[in-house]
Order: sequence, then C-alpha cells, then structure tokens
Amino acid sequence: MNRTFSIIKPDATKRNITGAINKLIEDSNLKIVAQKRIQLSRDKAEGFYSVHKDKPFFNDLIEYMTSGAVIIQVLKGNNAVDQYRKIMGATNPDNAEAGTIRKEFALNIQENSVHGSDSEKNAEIEIRYFFDESEIID
Ligand code: CMP
Repeated sequence: MNRTFSIIKPDATKRNITGAINKLIEDSNLKIVAQKRIQLSRDKAEGFYSVHKDKPFFNDLIEYMTSGAVIIQVLKGNNAVDQYRKIMGATNPDNAEAGTIRKEFALNIQENSVHGSDSEKNAEIEIRYFFDESEIID
C-alpha cells in the first residue's frame, strides 16, 4: 500500500464532474483518504508547479489553476502512484487510452481535469504541501 496526491482541476469543478472522476478513482480500488475543495492562491500554485517555472506554459498554467475551485486529494492503494497514473491517462487527452479520466473528461493538454504525482517521493512532498497528517483518515 502506498499513497499518491491528486488534484481535480478547475475545468472539472466548473463542469460539476468531480463525482464522475471520483467514481473512476474508487472503481480502480484507490481509496480517497483525504479530500478538500479549495481555491489555490497564486503563491501556492507557483510553489506547487515550481519545477515547470521555466516552461513556456507556466503562466497560463498558473492562471488556469487559480481560475476556480480545485479538489485536492490523498489516494491510497496498491502501487497508488502508478495505478493513478494509469487511470488518469496521458497528459494530452489526444494520446490518452480509452476509459481513462483524461480521455473521458479532459478538454486539452492544459485543461486536463486531473493531476497525479509522478513518483512516491514526490507524492509525499506534494501531500505534505497541502495536508497535515491528522487530516488523512484511512
Ligand atoms: P500536470 O500533470 O498537472 O503537470 C503540469 C501541467 O501543466 C499539466 O498537467 C497540464 O495541466 C499543464 N500543461 C500545459 N501545457 C503543457 C504541456 N505542453 N506539457 C505538459 N503539461 C502542460
């Protein structure tokens, strides 16, 4: 069992499809052990995506991620990081496999409905960036 960090992004909260996304998460045997609906500040979003700060899409990404509510989550399960990446599908929905969250719901490479950690180490860093351990209930 391990954990991963997830964000359901503004394109999904605006379209009221967070429950549909949570159903795909739970159907894949991941358990939502923490969840909050928040609005990211510019500072918080820039800190979270600091690895991308030199990318051409950085400013647009921050505008988008602060444009509405997001749902932040901790997911637990067998190989949670890889399992969630598998059900999210490719970053660009055009390349995502059928049945994945991004193939079903993402609008484009930026408004791609969900974020998931890319390694166990980053998962723990990202979880700690948003959650106190006391807020994670198995
Ligand atoms: P995410 O997995 O949260 O990581 C970085 C985000 O930047 C990505 O999802 C997209 O929302 C956004 N993004 C926008 N353009 C690109 C791009 N060309 N390549 C990768 N990510 C992009």
